[in-house]
Amino acid sequence: MIPIAIIILSGMKLVLATNFNRDFDILWGNGRGNIHNNGKLLSLSLDEYSGSGIVSKNAYLYSRIDMQIKLISGNSAGTVAAFYVGSHGDYRNEIDVEFLGNLTGDPYTIHTNIYTKGNGGREQQIRLWYDPTSSFHTYTISWSPFMIAIYVDGTPIRVFKNLESSGVPYMTDLPMKVYTSLWNADQWATRGGAIKTNWTEAPFKVWLRNYKARGCVWKNGGSSCSYGTSQIVNQDWYKQRELDWSSKEMLKWVRHNHMIYDYCRDSSRFPYGLPHECYLDTLLT
Ligand SMILES: *[C@@H]1O[C@H](CO)[C@@H](O)[C@H](O)[C@H]1NC(C)=O
Ligand SMILES: *[C@@H]1O[C@H](CO)[C@@H](O)[C@H](O)[C@H]1NC(C)=O
Repeated sequence: MIPIAIIILSGMKLVLATNFNRDFDILWGNGRGNIHNNGKLLSLSLDEYSGSGIVSKNAYLYSRIDMQIKLISGNSAGTVAAFYVGSHGDYRNEIDVEFLGNLTGDPYTIHTNIYTKGNGGREQQIRLWYDPTSSFHTYTISWSPFMIAIYVDGTPIRVFKNLESSGVPYMTDLPMKVYTSLWNADQWATRGGAIKTNWTEAPFKVWLRNYKARGCVWKNGGSSCSYGTSQIVNQDWYKQRELDWSSKEMLKWVRHNHMIYDYCRDSSRFPYGLPHECYLDTLLT
């Protein structure tokens, strides 16, 4: 019998899922999403007719997901590649990491958003300090009971704390699956939609590898961590309540030097006051 989740203990890192074949289903794209090397590598492709995407078999209620991604080189204008975790329904939660393409030589933008209980509108954008198309880089979504953190090669680019006690909704109820996809968004993605996808250069391709999921798997209507018995709850990412000092310094560096948009600074968009969380924590503003 083959166990549903193979638990690999490597030091203190409890990794539950690592393989595109075993741990994902192709969600859409009619042959444009392809798994290679026995599940170690994935390519997503986009042409004039369709993009493609995959979804994890497991849903998690708290997880830390690592994915290495190599984005489209050359002209990627109009395209969006996405790596996100999300649930379903009117009160859905979602943590989005989207890569907005650009013309050859112009920089990619990382666009992040956080939906809690059906409401998003928490966009931030940064420019990377390296070329994300020339090699693989590691993108991490960490979601614990206390905070969400998004990392690029271990450098935090965004934090969203559980501020439920101050009236800001957090994601504590619904399990989320992991998604990656590539699609055409030339109505808005590049320079606000001014630059269209150039289909003579299709198919566009994104490569993904070294998928690692740690997390509390959702089974029979409950989280495997809910009774505190899982080894997951002893992991650093799960217990983390704030970034350590050096990570905070790195996040400040990113925000100071590489951030190009933050909803918490966009007072013209919120004439009646910024969203509540923008006033609560200095790392959010
Ligand atoms: C693409 O490059 C242009 C020029 O550098 C820049 O203004 C724009 O923000 C970049 N990204 C997107 C997604 O449009
Ligand atoms: C689209 O790409 C082709 C091939 O690289 C190029 O010849 C053409 O000028 C491009 N079209 C636009 C509108 O930039």
